[in-house]
Amino acid sequence: MSFLSETLARVKPSPTMAITGLVGELKAQGRDIIGLSAGEPDFDTPENIRAAAIRAIEDGKTRYTAVDGIAELKQAICAKFKRDNGLEYTPKQVTVGTGGKQVLYNALMATLNHEDEVVIPAPYWVSYPDMVLLAGGVPVFIEAGLENDFKITPEQLDAAITRNTKWVLFNSPSNPTGAGYSRAELKALTDVLLKHPHVWVLSDDMYEHLAYDGFEFCTPAQVEPKLYDRTLTVNGVSKAYAMTGWRIGYAAGPEPLIAAIRKVQSQSTSNPCSISQWAAVEALNGPQDFLAPHNEIFKRRRDLVLAKLNAIDGITCPTPEGAFYVYPSISGLIGKTTPKGVEITTDEVFVTELLNDTGVAAVFGAAFGLSPNFRISYATSDAALEEACDRIAKFCSELS
Ligand SMILES: Cc1ncc(COP(=O)(O)O)c(C=O)c1O
Repeated sequence: MSFLSETLARVKPSPTMAITGLVGELKAQGRDIIGLSAGEPDFDTPENIRAAAIRAIEDGKTRYTAVDGIAELKQAICAKFKRDNGLEYTPKQVTVGTGGKQVLYNALMATLNHEDEVVIPAPYWVSYPDMVLLAGGVPVFIEAGLENDFKITPEQLDAAITRNTKWVLFNSPSNPTGAGYSRAELKALTDVLLKHPHVWVLSDDMYEHLAYDGFEFCTPAQVEPKLYDRTLTVNGVSKAYAMTGWRIGYAAGPEPLIAAIRKVQSQSTSNPCSISQWAAVEALNGPQDFLAPHNEIFKRRRDLVLAKLNAIDGITCPTPEGAFYVYPSISGLIGKTTPKGVEITTDEVFVTELLNDTGVAAVFGAAFGLSPNFRISYATSDAALEEACDRIAKFCSELS
């Protein structure tokens, strides 16, 4: 009998974090590695936010706080939802956790029973299915393929919902594809949910502020107010404010659900870091003017990577609306062979050989539930992206 739990046996470690770890090791060995696997901006946290954290330390704001966040941060979150999304919440409808990751995990732990199903569009953020499994639920996947720009259709959503469906998970703009649903596309999906009143909506809006070409971000509770009472809207400061290491995420939804999430957190981690909470107050209440220049840089990098990748024979990639990822298909390369005689049978083999031969680290599509693809994070310098794409082009041109 294993010492480890049966629940844990159903779960795999995060593949993106494993690859990021491998990149670190290879770099430490002196290999010339270009890491395109990490899901974080390469910008520093803005100066006013850092200063707010230093002030918090100096003012002694270093003790335990309320389990799911200080009043000032909850107020700032309510103001943010009103300002950006037209959504009215009171502080009692808001929870703050150690990253959006903890908030999502708590929500699933607080609500899932054995056999409860969670509908997840694939490709998905790597943690969703494993969090569902850890909480005892069953992930149900809908394939959002290249032919539909990595978006699900209302018909697919309708067909995936059963009597056992508890949640439908949305993530727009998406990790790993960058695909963002327009208001009309989202409305068509929320219309389906109106037909299924037992289903709740978990909207992961982590990439809200990272959108290009005038894309209008919207979120389910805003597009369909009738879903407000059964929607948990999750967001955080990690991506937009370049605060991945500070670990602050938050959500808003019906009060009983927020209380249940608080209960899980009260018996696990207690409050998120007090200093980070004060930094997040400044992030949400302070000037937002660095977002537009950051987005200009991201858009330029997206276009650079897309142009170079789409010029490679065997690679196809649609233009995503947001986030800082592209998710090219390599279906035209499957079955080819490297000069060393390795056959590219899967996207995992492709990514492994690419790393071995060229030092470019990306993440294979199977990790996100849709193959044959790979994910590139373009949150790195233009020079590194140009060099990486040139190496990928050379690697592909040598396949036969
Ligand atoms: C789609 C998505 N949701 C949630 C998270 C969690 O972010 P954090 O825990 O840093 O707030 C991430 C991070 O990579 C993500 O890509």
